[in-house]
Amino acid sequence: MLEAAKRLLMPSKRSNVPPFIVMDVMAAAAQIEAQGRRVVHMEVGQPAAPAPATALKAAQAALAHGRIGYTEALGIPSLRARIAHHYAETYDLALDPARVVVTTGSSGGFILAFLALFEAGDRVALANPGYPPYRHILSALGCEPVLIETSADTRWALSATALIAAHRRTPLKGVVIASPANPTGTMMDADALARLIAVAEAEGIRVISDEIYHGLDYAFTAETAANVSERVVVINSFSKYFCMTGWRIGWMVVPDSFVRPIERLQQNLAISVPTLAQIAAEAAFDGRAEMEAVKHGYEENRRILVDGLPKAGLDKFLPVDGAFYLYANVARFSNDSLDFAKRMLEQAGVAATPGIDFDPVDGRHFLRFCYAGSAAEMHEAVERIGQWLTR
Ligand SMILES: Cc1ncc(COP(=O)(O)O)c(C=O)c1O
Repeated sequence: MLEAAKRLLMPSKRSNVPPFIVMDVMAAAAQIEAQGRRVVHMEVGQPAAPAPATALKAAQAALAHGRIGYTEALGIPSLRARIAHHYAETYDLALDPARVVVTTGSSGGFILAFLALFEAGDRVALANPGYPPYRHILSALGCEPVLIETSADTRWALSATALIAAHRRTPLKGVVIASPANPTGTMMDADALARLIAVAEAEGIRVISDEIYHGLDYAFTAETAANVSERVVVINSFSKYFCMTGWRIGWMVVPDSFVRPIERLQQNLAISVPTLAQIAAEAAFDGRAEMEAVKHGYEENRRILVDGLPKAGLDKFLPVDGAFYLYANVARFSNDSLDFAKRMLEQAGVAATPGIDFDPVDGRHFLRFCYAGSAAEMHEAVERIGQWLTR
């Protein structure tokens, strides 16, 4: 092929983001299942339960009605109002629905927020370990993700001190925080959150708070950053608490000055968020009793793992505060969590995600277990791991 023709087929440099290794674990697990062997799935971070019955019913009624058209770019007004009301109910915060933006999952929210808040070249701080798409979306948009190490001293959350130290070395434009966090499952308490936001804002660092795991808090109640400052951008989703991953629906709470720019971005990037998902999401708020029962299931799963894994041999893990993740240190057994995860899958039939997906520095010592399955699966996983490690 001519050089010029070859160049036509060359993807852009910014599209060269790393893969999500958890997908490779899923593929390996599927191969084992295709051979007729059983696998306990603890690799993917999604609920096993369906969306609330109220949401399914509303979607079915809308489908029966026929036409599903576009909506306003910022979302159906009644859904925005219902989300604002959720802040009054849950956090005792009177929120103007005009500040609520409906998004295509929180993933769609990150793209809108990063575009609206940052210029290409801006440096944005992230906790390490952390959710990989933060850094991959930022770099695809031409921003520079800056990983800041966390440790047990700060409950594996980004501390105000570490943020300022990084800012003094080279100025930061923003920071993304998450509590409860993925993959660690740890949380920041309300004081730590308020301290971090105060320090960041005093330095002109814009704060984005990913609150996708709110509602799934066991150690203590999660506080919203929207209650700390009106300048913070909050990102949330129906994927986790409301068990609606495949519906691709989430929301943001943004400062007044960002509403119109984000509306213009959404008009151009997506026109609007899927209408059926918006209708279902509004009705999901009426299904909270059902979702609380699902949450109690996670609490029981958490108890089974916290009791059982140490007896099985995995006795070092981070505080299991919230979300549905347990982040276990496997350094006693291996310096290569990818290899350890492969062997555990192959030999014990338990699928978990190697830490290198979330932490390029120390992830080779960690595995992430998702406990959003059934209690029976948790017992089975503990037993299989125990037998495998003591062979
Ligand atoms: C911390 C965190 N943020 C955001 C997301 C994206 O979720 P969604 O786009 O389904 O709302 C996930 C998904 O696992 C996550 O763990």
